[in-house]
Amino acid sequence: MTVHFIGAGPGAPDLITLRGRDLIAACPVCLYAGSLVPAALLQHCPNGARIVNTAPLSLDEIMAEIATAHAAGQDVARLHSGDLSVWSAMGEQLRRLRAMGIPYDVTPGVPAFAAAAATLGTELTLPGVAQSLVLTRTSGRASAMPEGETLANFAATGATLAIHLSVHVLERVVAELTPHYGTDCPAAVVWRASWPDQRVVKATLATLEAATEGERGRTALILVGPTLGAEEFGESRLYAGDYDRRFRPVGTAPRFPEGTE
Ligand SMILES: C[S@@+](CC[C@H](N)C(=O)[O-])C[C@H]1O[C@@H](n2cnc3c(N)ncnc32)[C@H](O)[C@@H]1O
Repeated sequence: MTVHFIGAGPGAPDLITLRGRDLIAACPVCLYAGSLVPAALLQHCPNGARIVNTAPLSLDEIMAEIATAHAAGQDVARLHSGDLSVWSAMGEQLRRLRAMGIPYDVTPGVPAFAAAAATLGTELTLPGVAQSLVLTRTSGRASAMPEGETLANFAATGATLAIHLSVHVLERVVAELTPHYGTDCPAAVVWRASWPDQRVVKATLATLEAATEGERGRTALILVGPTLGAEEFGESRLYAGDYDRRFRPVGTAPRFPEGTE
C-alpha cells in the first residue's frame, strides 16, 4: 500500500501529468483538497472509489482516512493543487506517514506560477533583465513569514517576483515594492490561471490597484518585475550561431568534437 501525492495542476483538468492521471485511476481511495483541485479530475477515479474532499478535515482526520486505507491495503491518491513542493501542506503529512511507517511517493504537478506565466505568454527570466524568480507570499492568518523573507528584501535583488496568497493585500504589496522597482515597473495579476473564469490584468506598479477595480477575493497570483512584457533584452548565447557547444560543434577546433561523450 502506498500513498501517492499527486500535483493536480493549476485548474484546467488536462494540466495534470499522465503519471498523475494514471495513479488516480489505479487508486481505490482518493483524497483531494477540494478548495482548488478541479472536480473534473475525480472522473479518473475507478468505479466505487472512496472519494473524500479534505478541505473541511483536520490533519488528524486526514491521517485517519489514510490509516484506514492502509489497514485495508488500499492505495491512496492524495491530490493537492499545483505542485506539491510549494504551499501544499505535504511536508507535515509526509512526516506523519514516516512516523506511521506508511510508504508514499510524490508526482509533481504544474504550479500556479507556471500557469500564470503561460497565460501572460511571458518568460520570467530574460538575459540581462532578470535571471531569478522568487516564489513568495505575504504573511497570513495561518502562516507568519520568517524574519528576513520580506518583499523589500526580495525586491532589492530586482528578481521577478511571483507573489502568492496576497491579492487581498495588493495595496501593501505595491507600496512595499514600488521603492525598489519604480512606478513604471510592469506588474500583473492573474486570477484562476487556466480555469474557465480566468482573469488577467496587466499594468504597472503605479496603475495596478486601479486596473484591478477592487477585485481582491479570488485565487490569484501577483507577478512583478521588468521581465514582464520586456522587449529590450539580449538573446541567449546558447543558440548564437558562433557558440561552440557539445550538441552543435562550431569552428575548426570545437571544444567537443563530434563523437566525444
Ligand atoms: C496554497 S497555495 C498553492 C500553491 C500550489 N501548490 C502551486 O504549486 O502553485 C494557493 C495560492 O496559489 C496561487 N494559485 C493557485 N492556483 C492558482 C491559479 N490557478 N491561478 C492563480 N493563482 C493560483 C494563489 O496565490 C493561491 O492563493
